[in-house]
Amino acid sequence: MFDQASTLRRLMEEARIPQSTGAFAHVHNQNGFASPVKTSAAPRVFTVTGGKGGVGKTLTTANLGLCFVREGMRTLLIDGDFGLANLDVLLNVRAESTLEDVLVGERELKDVIVTGPEGLRLIPASSGMPRVNELGQMQKLVLLDQIESIQDDFDVVLIDTPAGVSKNVQYWAASASEVLLVATPEPTSLADAYATMKVLAQANNETSFKLIVNMAKSEEEALRVFERLSSVANEYLQVKLDYAGSVPFCDSVRNSVRERTPYVQRYPFSPASRGIRGIAREMLFNSSTPHPKGTMQFFWKRLVAGQNIETMGR
Ligand SMILES: Nc1ncnc2c1ncn2[C@@H]1O[C@H](COP(=O)(O)OP(=O)(O)O)[C@@H](O)[C@H]1O
Ligand SMILES: [Mg+2]
Repeated sequence: MFDQASTLRRLMEEARIPQSTGAFAHVHNQNGFASPVKTSAAPRVFTVTGGKGGVGKTLTTANLGLCFVREGMRTLLIDGDFGLANLDVLLNVRAESTLEDVLVGERELKDVIVTGPEGLRLIPASSGMPRVNELGQMQKLVLLDQIESIQDDFDVVLIDTPAGVSKNVQYWAASASEVLLVATPEPTSLADAYATMKVLAQANNETSFKLIVNMAKSEEEALRVFERLSSVANEYLQVKLDYAGSVPFCDSVRNSVRERTPYVQRYPFSPASRGIRGIAREMLFNSSTPHPKGTMQFFWKRLVAGQNIETMGR
């Protein structure tokens, strides 16, 4: 078991000099405002969320991950859905140990990584018997430290999250450089996607999101969903929503779940596979540079710096 107290002490130390750590240095622009500049090749970290259950977050995470692998990216998926973990089932991989073992201090993160199809890597979570419901402050810090220790091994990290906008989802969103919202054209999904942006804007100061419209009947319908959401996000939340693309409703997706094989692998020419491939390429080659809100480390170290050590871990 690693020394959680020394990890915490080190993070507390580093928290006092956040500008010198992490992948972003802060420079002052001509207006005198600090603006982060990317200085090292830290991975792009995407948190996949959206509020509502069943909209396709987990399938999107798995298939987008495989598309990134095929584009030559060393890709890691993290199952952030403690309790109802699905990624290992979808990818048909056997998880000997899981993220929960890391969180209770029994394993190191690098030892729980398993390899899925085509070299896609996965940090699985446990299903059914959660030993961790809500992450404690200490667990958040230890996890952050552990992720930091493996980040040089990856170009892209995708984090799948549970339904809702719990504190854990807020943590995962804070840990990512980009928040990907998955929504369907159903009004309930739109309402939940909006609520997710609102909570993350208020709790995490999140100012930009990317939208994937899943299960759309047509690209026109997907674009209408994007336009509605982006205009309310802009008007009422003052946040920016970018369109990443759409994945149509497709029987091959359901079949792929039954076959425990990602649809991009089993049905590479299906409309869903074309959609998700387009999204992966858009993100890698066309999307504007990652929203420079700072790294996970930067966010949490600042938070820790403002806290009394006595309250940590509760
Ligand atoms: N593009 C799609 N076309 C058809 N069915 C889909 C599509 N995306 C998801 N589904 C269905 O929705 C179910 C839930 O997807 P999942 O990724 O587990 O959602 P979430 O993680 O958001 O709860 C899948 O098992 C699948 O049957
Ligand atoms: Mg899921």
